[in-house]
Amino acid sequence: MTKLTRYIAFINLFALLWTAQVNGDSPRVAVASAHPLATEAGFEIIAKGGNVFDAAVAVSAALAVVEPAGSGLGGGGYWLLHRAKDHVETFIDGREKAPLAAHKAMFLDKSGKVIPNLSLNGALAAAIPGLPAGLVHLSEKYGQLTLAESLAPAIRYATNGFTITERHRRMLGSNVEVLKKDRYTSAIFLSHGSVPKSFSILKQPDLANTLKQLAESGRDGFYDGEVADKLVNGVRKAGGIWSQEDLDAYQVVERKPIKGSYQGITITSAPPSSSGGIVLLETLNILSGFDLQKIDEIIRKHLITEAMRRAYHDRALYLGDADFIDIPTQQLLSLDYAAGLRSTIRHDKALPSNYLSGDMPEQNQGTQTTHFSIIDEDDNRVAATLSINTAFGAGFAPEATGVLLNNEMDDFASLEGAMNVYGLVGAAANSIAPGKRMLSSMTPTFLETPERIAVLGTPGGSRIISMVLLGILDFAKGNNPDSWVSIPRFHHQFMPDVIEYEKAALSQDEITKLSTLGHQLKETKRNYGDMQAVQLNKLTKKLTASSDPRGVGKAWVSP
Ligand code: GLY
Repeated sequence: MTKLTRYIAFINLFALLWTAQVNGDSPRVAVASAHPLATEAGFEIIAKGGNVFDAAVAVSAALAVVEPAGSGLGGGGYWLLHRAKDHVETFIDGREKAPLAAHKAMFLDKSGKVIPNLSLNGALAAAIPGLPAGLVHLSEKYGQLTLAESLAPAIRYATNGFTITERHRRMLGSNVEVLKKDRYTSAIFLSHGSVPKSFSILKQPDLANTLKQLAESGRDGFYDGEVADKLVNGVRKAGGIWSQEDLDAYQVVERKPIKGSYQGITITSAPPSSSGGIVLLETLNILSGFDLQKIDEIIRKHLITEAMRRAYHDRALYLGDADFIDIPTQQLLSLDYAAGLRSTIRHDKALPSNYLSGDMPEQNQGTQTTHFSIIDEDDNRVAATLSINTAFGAGFAPEATGVLLNNEMDDFASLEGAMNVYGLVGAAANSIAPGKRMLSSMTPTFLETPERIAVLGTPGGSRIISMVLLGILDFAKGNNPDSWVSIPRFHHQFMPDVIEYEKAALSQDEITKLSTLGHQLKETKRNYGDMQAVQLNKLTKKLTASSDPRGVGKAWVSP
């Protein structure tokens, strides 16, 4: 797609939307996603008479094509929905599941040690995808167009190709060694085993064909028949353990979202299999006993860090797939419990994390996954966070499918107390079991006050929750989406016992004073996250949308 054809397509889209709105066929909508073509796919579907749920199918599928580092048909995700006409609020859990042949020790050597990278690279790292089932469910139950109509933009992007971004090239550069190990995968994403030149066009005809099968046959187009055969055979040939039984058994689950409040803001967020909603609400409950607006900025950051430390500690101990374990959700979200944790926080001293549990070394943070937010003027909303885990997932696509597989098996605790790629530790609650969902940090979230409704979320591994937290604290100050997506970020996750921060997040004076309080600090190599946020002012009906300046996304509001 050249610049000129992109421009013409955009003008056509603008005209279509304008006509649909003037005729009263489409509501006004705000969309923010991590890629301009995905945002435009959402608007294309709105202009064709789709609702925000159809638009969410289109944006999810488009991201699978144009941002293959972050999410895809070979991965999973969560869609948090609000339907205005009947106030339905639900959470579609399309998280991947461990294959039925998976077992607790599958990534350990004979002496019981974790085999490095086995849960990250190649076919064994891949869990059973949930994204295709999620798209089918979302379209059939909540959409008003056909699945084929909503998948059309993604099929077009995969067939005609699109110009890759420098961000895409940078992420390819970090993953080239893994991607080039498999001849077929390398041929899709690399050029003779190297990162393609700037402005190269990426065409994905096999992925287009798989999307067409999904469009024509729904769930069976992916989980049964020709595509399923190719997936299972490809995975097994490459040392994986998938079977047709795994694909037959995969089902999305609708769950009740986690709900809570903070300073008069109603917060709706992700329940397990994500840790997002519980850790977010627990942190906010702890903070609700402090007047953060009136406290000195350094102590404010100290208290936020201490609250994160305690909530992430509970994440490590108690959270996992609620279909497999009992989670003490009521206790974790009770205000009394939060008050107890708050009483252990000193204003003048950090609590070393090993006072809560044994210390762990540090590891690198991945930054992948993707998020998009949609709201219309009638208050229908979707917050979706989708993932194949780290950039380009397992780095492996089964031959002739175009489907790059996830490496979400790494989100399980392969060994109690051992860290995953995000440095997260876990316990038995998140150990591997056949058919189990691995614990996630993805945190698609709604915020509501009498005046405003917001939809937000971001990629960024374990840092997702703290990014959403900082966004909410900024919303509480009365700021708008531009501010939430831009504010400099800092993060603490209990283990490793360190505040990680973007350069702009802490001044030298703050660094010195936080160190004096006993905190370890580490500046991140680069800025992180890619928050996408939209807002509806209930009183004026004004829509706003913002895309994180750290990324290349596009936020747009109907003309
Ligand atoms: N794969 C990252 C997460 O789900 O938290």
